[in-house]
Amino acid sequence: MDKKISVFISEEKIQARVKELGAQIAHDYQGKSLHLLCLLKGSFIFCADLCRHIDLPLEVSFLSLSSYGNETSSSGQVNFLSEIPKELEGKDVLIVEDIVDSGFTIAKLREKLQKFPLKSLRLCTLLFKPTQLKHPVSIEYVGFSIEDKFVVGYGLDLAQNYRQLPFVGLVEQ
Ligand code: IMP
Ligand code: MG
Repeated sequence: MDKKISVFISEEKIQARVKELGAQIAHDYQGKSLHLLCLLKGSFIFCADLCRHIDLPLEVSFLSLSSYGNETSSSGQVNFLSEIPKELEGKDVLIVEDIVDSGFTIAKLREKLQKFPLKSLRLCTLLFKPTQLKHPVSIEYVGFSIEDKFVVGYGLDLAQNYRQLPFVGLVEQ
């Protein structure tokens, strides 16, 4: 895919904010150890950067989900492409997400996680589209609240493309 992508949130802004989030998380969980649950594929870059700014004893696990297919609007369905990792049990778990749009993905995941005895559960998302939220979800850590625009880069894709961009960008029409 070869579309023109314009910078929406620069690499510098993202890196500065990720550093702040890491410091905030380390402060909030002081004296504890933390388990990051990275939602694939979209969060792989954010989680890789974030975890290096969290100065705590830390574990990471991965859960593969899909909701968008190849479209630019949510399919209204969440597919769990892998099992919830058993190693979460009894831990302070922080879900690491790329973007919360309708909130459907996170609502479904939280529902599933209710069956697991966790010490605590919080959510950290790089991006949040507040005007799009349709499912009540609590989000403890937000990188950037953005308008309702379809964005790519820094892990986020359009039909599996553009995840490797170091910035968050807009696809030019
Ligand atoms: P939700 O279930 O509607 O909250 O959608 C969340 C998921 O949709 C995210 O984890 C992303 O994978 C995807 N998504 C939502 N908005 C965008 C976007 O602007 N660009 C790329 N993916 C998006
Ligand atoms: Mg995602």
